[in-house]
Amino acid sequence: MSTDMFHTLDEADVRGKRVLVRVDLNVPVENGKVADTTRIERVAPTIGEIADKGGKVILLSHFGRPNGPDPTQSLKLLTPTIAAILKRPVAFAEDCIGERAAAAVNAMKPGDILCLENTRFHLGEERNDPGFVAQLAALGDIFVNDAFSVAHRAHASVEGIGHRLPTYAGRTMQDELEALAKVLQTPVRPLAAIVGGAKVSTKLDLLGSLLAKVDTLILGGGMANTFLAACGHSVGKSLCEHDLLPTAREIMAKAKAKGRELVLPVDAVVAKTFATNAPSRVVAVDSIGPRSIEHVCSVLARVKTLVWNGPFGAFELEPFDIGTVEVAEAAAELTDAGKIITVAGGGDTVAALNAAGAAGRFTYVSTAGGAFLEWLEGKPLPGVEVLRVR
Ligand code: 3PG
Ligand code: MG
Repeated sequence: MSTDMFHTLDEADVRGKRVLVRVDLNVPVENGKVADTTRIERVAPTIGEIADKGGKVILLSHFGRPNGPDPTQSLKLLTPTIAAILKRPVAFAEDCIGERAAAAVNAMKPGDILCLENTRFHLGEERNDPGFVAQLAALGDIFVNDAFSVAHRAHASVEGIGHRLPTYAGRTMQDELEALAKVLQTPVRPLAAIVGGAKVSTKLDLLGSLLAKVDTLILGGGMANTFLAACGHSVGKSLCEHDLLPTAREIMAKAKAKGRELVLPVDAVVAKTFATNAPSRVVAVDSIGPRSIEHVCSVLARVKTLVWNGPFGAFELEPFDIGTVEVAEAAAELTDAGKIITVAGGGDTVAALNAAGAAGRFTYVSTAGGAFLEWLEGKPLPGVEVLRVR
């Protein structure tokens, strides 16, 4: 999707206006502390730009999956972290609609930032209820969506509100859509995809969609076992979806018919038990071993674009992390050298690339989980569709 298909902040006149900005503050929290602030850091430029231009920035977000009001999932807990990252004061309103929200908005001056309470405290959010949408929309003059990672949800603060107010893509949304277009809409070929993760069953739509687009499909992680088993290899006790062997065979046949290259592991690091530093050895075929890594790296050396979804092996445990770490390192080096465009995202992918120390060197790393996956599957995302110029 190119920028001429949606309005950006360049076209928005925000001075003195109440600007509702949808961000994704759904960050991981461990022991009461934000464990990863990436999503907050990513939206900081949009917030800063609107505030500097004299807009009143009103942040809208969900946090967790509460069933109604829940103090443990209050965005109030995040406000100090947001303020620290923005290096600006951030006010908080105890509700995202109604009198308390309106009073807080009315008290704002140009350049102020206000965070409204978790939108999911109201059932109308997930139901995209028109009454709730109207109450949200009443608080603003303009809507800016900077939350690609929640664009797969047709919720009130993501989708519904975009029909009620002049709507613009924020800077992070813009970057994200441009990076994604580089990979699947107008890729420099050859184009390869790495699909990892534990289960084939959750990636069937993805594999089908990617086979139509990529030149090379590289399979890793636990799901590769299902394909190896379908080829007649023994996978021992490793994770394998035995009921999906016919499906795996169908996918392989489809790849062959379309002339796509399908890359499977050829050797593996295995151990009797699955634990950190368990005694391990390299065998012929099981998960990912040195020959597989070498083979994948040689494939990367001859492609121009790579899209990566899902860990290549169990990255959270040594020595099983070696596949993810070494392949990520090779992709990062090729990116540094300007030889390849690398875009990664989805669920555990960012954590895996961070653990490998490679995320910062990729062309673009999305913080989106489900939204990235649905986009790769070729599904329209409600939060992106509503941005299209009508
Ligand atoms: C995410 O973390 O993937 C997004 O914030 C969406 O959250 P959800 O899966 O609870 O809708
Ligand atoms: Mg999710």
